[in-house]
Amino acid sequence: MENSDNDRFSELPGPPISKICCIGAGYVGGPTMSVIALKCPEVQVTIVDVSKERISQWNSDKLPIYEPGLEEIVKKCRGKNLFFSTDAKKAIQEAEIIFISVNTPTKTSGNGKGRAADLKHVEGCARLIAGIATSCKIVVEKSTVPVKAAESIMQVLKANNKQGVRYSILSNPEFLAEGTAIENLINPDRVLIGGEETPEGQKAIETLCWIYNKWIPKEKILTTNTWSSELSKLAANAMLAQRISSINSLSAVCEATGADVSEVGRAIGLDSRIGSKFLQASVGFGGSCFQKDLLNLVYICEKLNLPEVAQYWQKVIDMNEYQKTRFSQKIIECLFNTVSEKRLTIFGFAFKKNTGDTRETPAITVCKNLLDEGAKLNIYDPKVEKSQIIADLTSTRVTDNPEEVKKSIEIFTDPYDAVVGTHAIVICTEWDEFIEMDYDRIYKLMIKPAYLFDGRKIVNHEELQNVGFHVITIGKKLNRPGLMRSVGSISQQ
Ligand code: UDX
Ligand code: ADP
Repeated sequence: MENSDNDRFSELPGPPISKICCIGAGYVGGPTMSVIALKCPEVQVTIVDVSKERISQWNSDKLPIYEPGLEEIVKKCRGKNLFFSTDAKKAIQEAEIIFISVNTPTKTSGNGKGRAADLKHVEGCARLIAGIATSCKIVVEKSTVPVKAAESIMQVLKANNKQGVRYSILSNPEFLAEGTAIENLINPDRVLIGGEETPEGQKAIETLCWIYNKWIPKEKILTTNTWSSELSKLAANAMLAQRISSINSLSAVCEATGADVSEVGRAIGLDSRIGSKFLQASVGFGGSCFQKDLLNLVYICEKLNLPEVAQYWQKVIDMNEYQKTRFSQKIIECLFNTVSEKRLTIFGFAFKKNTGDTRETPAITVCKNLLDEGAKLNIYDPKVEKSQIIADLTSTRVTDNPEEVKKSIEIFTDPYDAVVGTHAIVICTEWDEFIEMDYDRIYKLMIKPAYLFDGRKIVNHEELQNVGFHVITIGKKLNRPGLMRSVGSISQQ
């Protein structure tokens, strides 16, 4: 028997799904939807964004974000079952599943300023959907949000409900890491889907599972209640960041004692209970997620009246700040305690290799500290746009004298040009090309003594010492006789 219109409207969508809409064409929405389109050719995927510019970039030959493997997928699916549009109305109306992948930055004013996640864009999406939808929808929260955000989305949707339109909210956090996003999406460690324990919630979970199950085995698709799913995302990032802060804290001990943090990392990582990943000591972690999610977790714990827990996670952030500043201090101390009017080369500005993203990159802190001390900087990064570097270093968060900063920095597109007449190279990002460079040639182009500060532990320190460089790295006293100066815990050769 045919369902009446009312019955059909009261039904939440179930498999098979024919249309998906994603709100937010950023680092999360873009790659995630591209992979869904690739793996589900029978499903039409439309990504919408408020930014016309972003959408036209997605529709052009130069995509707005760099991610290995992404361009090939977009080229393959775009115009077939993958669409980028500013017409949110049409896409929302037609879709059975709507993903919310908008940014959730840390609040810059008001309650929870500097810590709580700003949910204004997420709330905006909920209001947008409520205003447009004329049939039942599954709404998937993909942006990283505080625990219980799904409840807020539901409240907005219910309060603006039209007759017969029902919603089910799912939490489906994204665990992709930039630079390996496509690989992570195609072959994830797990997919997490949180939903309500009601029959409707379970049906929505089953529907989203149907999508992922097109290429991900069932064993890897984990279903939980909504709050567990939301908290798991924050917890995963907090635990990963904590490992980096832990090894970075030990890097200071290594420099003071003569131990080598790479050896320590390897030794402890071989314990299968600890594991080897995320134990690479560095200048500090960056990226849009770790700091933001930690701050968010700290804020939530304070709100839940769990001050000890809040302080515990706050220390992970504090240690990261300490590491970035410690590295900058080391550079200044080694360069005879002054970098004033000295020109230094910064190799790498992105927060990690294989991405053009600079959000919370440690390079900003290092550059800021050096600029504050009067240094001039030649900056080279293979993927970050010149305008982005200038915007980052002249933002009000970094300086109150942007014109002065502009005069003190120069951005290069050729690394060999960037080193000419500089006193030191500072490696801030672990780009592979920095490992293979012609350091003999570079050495000749620099002022002597020529210094290299390896904030990522990627270059061959012994070879560079043989070339003539004074090499300083993180978590290791380079033990060679020669120019040893008394600069606290800093070693150099
Ligand atoms: C992270 C999480 O890994 C991912 O699951 C989540 O969805 C988003 O946040 P991302 O920020 O893209 O991903 O990069 P990640 O590879 O985690 O690196 C974060 C920062 O930590 C980078 O600055 C990186 O250089 C640094 N890092 C990483 C270290 O300093 N040492 C390590 O051992 C690993
Ligand atoms: P993420 O790393 O979380 O993907 P991004 O900043 O890269 O964050 O992308 C988020 C995208 O969401 C941006 O392109 C932004 O323009 C878009 N966006 C924010 N709010 C809305 C909204 N209400 N409707 C549509 N797009 C939005």
